Amino acid sequence: MLDAAQTSQDTVLSVEGLTVHYPVRKGMLGRQVQYVHAADDVSFTLRRGETLGLVGESGCGKSTVGRSILRLVEPTRGKILLGDTDITHLERGEMRAHRQNLQAIFQDPYSSLNQRMRAFDLVAEPLRNFGRPVTREIIADLFRQVGLRRDQMDNFPHQFSGGQRQRLVIAKALGLQPEIIVCDEAVSALDVSVQAQVINLLTKLQREHGIALLFVAHDLAVVEHISHRIAVMYLGQIVELAEKRSLFAQPRHPYTRALLDAVPVPDPKRRLEAGRIIPGDVPSPLNPPAGCRFHTRCPLAFDRCRKEAPVLKQVAAEHQAACHLNDAA
Ligand SMILES: Nc1ncnc2c1ncn2[C@@H]1O[C@H](COP(=O)(O)OP(=O)(O)OP(=O)(O)O)[C@@H](O)[C@H]1O
Ligand SMILES: [Mg+2]
Repeated sequence: MLDAAQTSQDTVLSVEGLTVHYPVRKGMLGRQVQYVHAADDVSFTLRRGETLGLVGESGCGKSTVGRSILRLVEPTRGKILLGDTDITHLERGEMRAHRQNLQAIFQDPYSSLNQRMRAFDLVAEPLRNFGRPVTREIIADLFRQVGLRRDQMDNFPHQFSGGQRQRLVIAKALGLQPEIIVCDEAVSALDVSVQAQVINLLTKLQREHGIALLFVAHDLAVVEHISHRIAVMYLGQIVELAEKRSLFAQPRHPYTRALLDAVPVPDPKRRLEAGRIIPGDVPSPLNPPAGCRFHTRCPLAFDRCRKEAPVLKQVAAEHQAACHLNDAA
């Protein structure tokens, strides 16, 4: 066991009670304002050099959490801490120093790379922005680390394949030697075989550089390989957060169990998207159900679940879940 001091030293990112409600206008002339409950009281930490997978069905709030950490979304409540620094409300200028430490990789490398710039300049750009040295050797080394060839440095993005473009994005993120990279569906647009290569690359780089990754994906099979711990979200809330083996061996939330049941078909053509086999629709995030948000679809729901919201609590070592069933045991 780590003592408290070591634990806080090892924590590179803390998300505390993060709540994001997006206002949406409804009704005649848009006079009525309603709120999308995209994230409600989300709390977790990211440790130095670990990968935390964040999974859940489309619309459950994964990107909202990732974008809040990157300061692309303004939280309604809650805090984001980088190490000990509260960055929740930092101004652009103040945030700049922390940017180097906090990089992002999104789904679509095409839109995150300027098509008119050569690969060399794309990878060099963040280094130049922060006044770091840029030489052919430094950039060539980044190319080598992500499995691109030196002679590709003068090519334009369209001359790379999808997987290679994502490698370029990774090289760009890596240059500043960040402590944290938020990967939001970083491999979701790639073919399954290429996905595995890019995941292997991220795993290797993370080990070599001790980077902490928040790895967002809707597909549990994708996060399984890369993650040390996994957080499962449902309708804006984390319902389970556990060390990977513990989560797979003994899921403690019926929603996680349902997600796991959706995974095991190895044939990608037959593999269902996470959650498809769970009966019933996800309720509207404009008006989430009272009590446990999953109770409308939960095969095990009982009276208490309809009335009282379960809190995320420790159910085993490195294992938290928010389900009343764990109290009964
Ligand atoms: N800017 C916005 N304004 C209003 N609602 C939004 C906004 N961005 C996201 N939402 C809504 O917030 C909820 C959470 O969205 P989010 O993109 O975080 O989900 P997600 O888990 O990343 O989904 P996906 O797997 O499809 O990427 C959804 O209901 C979405 O429609
Ligand atoms: Mg998303």
